Amino acid sequence: MSVLIKNGRVITASEDYTADILIEGEKISAIGKNLSSETTHALSPEEIDATGKLIFPGGIDPHVHLDMPFMGTFSSDNYETGTLAALHGGTTMVIDFILQTQGKSLHNALDEWRSRSDGNCYGDYSFHMAVTDFNDDTKKEIKDLIDKEGITSFKTFMAYKGALMIDDRQMIGLMNEVRDRGGIVTVHATNGDMIDFLIAKHRAEGKLSPLYHYLSQPEITESEAAGRFADMAFYTDVPAYIVHLTCEGALNQVRDATERNQKIFVETCIQYLILDASLYEKDFEGAKWVMSPPLREKKDQATLWAGINQGLVQVVGTDHCPFEWNKKLMGEKDFSKIPNGHPAIENRMELLYSEGVEKGRISLNKYVEVTSTNAAKIFGMFPQKGTIGIGADADIVIFDPKKKHKISAKTHHMNVDYSGYEGWEVTGKVETVLLRGKVAIDNGKEKIKKGYGKFVKRGKVSKVI
Ligand code: URP
Ligand code: ZN
Ligand code: ZN
Repeated sequence: MSVLIKNGRVITASEDYTADILIEGEKISAIGKNLSSETTHALSPEEIDATGKLIFPGGIDPHVHLDMPFMGTFSSDNYETGTLAALHGGTTMVIDFILQTQGKSLHNALDEWRSRSDGNCYGDYSFHMAVTDFNDDTKKEIKDLIDKEGITSFKTFMAYKGALMIDDRQMIGLMNEVRDRGGIVTVHATNGDMIDFLIAKHRAEGKLSPLYHYLSQPEITESEAAGRFADMAFYTDVPAYIVHLTCEGALNQVRDATERNQKIFVETCIQYLILDASLYEKDFEGAKWVMSPPLREKKDQATLWAGINQGLVQVVGTDHCPFEWNKKLMGEKDFSKIPNGHPAIENRMELLYSEGVEKGRISLNKYVEVTSTNAAKIFGMFPQKGTIGIGADADIVIFDPKKKHKISAKTHHMNVDYSGYEGWEVTGKVETVLLRGKVAIDNGKEKIKKGYGKFVKRGKVSKVI
């Protein structure tokens, strides 16, 4: 089967040109002017006219939580609904998180996650392995995960004390092992003890509304942990990546680390660029945006946009972790019981285009870098994923840059009954999405079936991209 995309404006992380793209099977086989079945000898390709449209590599969201057991419930998008919603929004691949159960093995957790994911995905997927209990047995599993399973990134939590958090001794042990085996350590960098103290203090004082979720995680809790993580990564010389970085203080720790010639990769998420903490003043409605770390201030948004342009922030993800409103209500009388997370997997590409490119904050090339290319490079999938080039997987978004529309829970495909962006006016719309050569979404209609999404084994990673 072949597809010929005609006359699109092709944008990669470094190029911008108008061309035709020929796809044969799952791969891009030719890029050029005036391609046709005669010039390429492709057998009657399906033609798509992309005149006036932008062509991006499929989005890669390296931070999602699908069907994840968390805070007494499960995130409400499973692998089927989550990867389908992602495709509708132009994201062709996600990296989800496996959580080790303390006292059990990493392979045990891998089996459990596979029982929920395999055969159920529309879009392509991979896993980060969250190590919540690093010990001599866990250590022995790292090599196998990297070499045999293609899981090369190891997530750590410096917060969620009593549930997911590891201490610095475990962190150093893990970093040494991951460095030796060719992987990368990623981190939720906030100070779990400080947060634990502040949560207990606010609860004891009867301060129980969502606003106190925000006030229990001040900026210093994040900047302290980011700096400590950077120090440990420097000491152990491991490739390192901070997930969902939100604020000026934390980014300044990364900036400072460059002074000793250290490179730490940084991901922020779409919500931290465009939403701010004033939303927590809306009484219990603020629970829609209860996530960790919390939304920050306008000055932090400015730092993050600048950080993208300064090359300090390489990736914009979502930390998609949706909960139905009735689950958020579990914390109606106590903010510490509100399941943490918000839905965004479907909105990231369009929101970042509208708020970033359309408003002149980032260039088109930078847009592709932070939504796709850098994640593919950092996590060992480039150039199979993350670019438009001969031999790459034909994961392609055909994007109408002029089309205006509104975001709403009434029309989104995520399995959650509210949107954190209800009524937002967006310029630019995902029109057609191809995944490994197949039209997956066409003008809002899905064209593939559950199970088409494949697990992607990733390669070894390094400190340079
Ligand atoms: O609030 C969040 N971020 N929920 C998901 C878990 C995490 O910390 O990434
Ligand atoms: Zn986190
Ligand atoms: Zn997360």
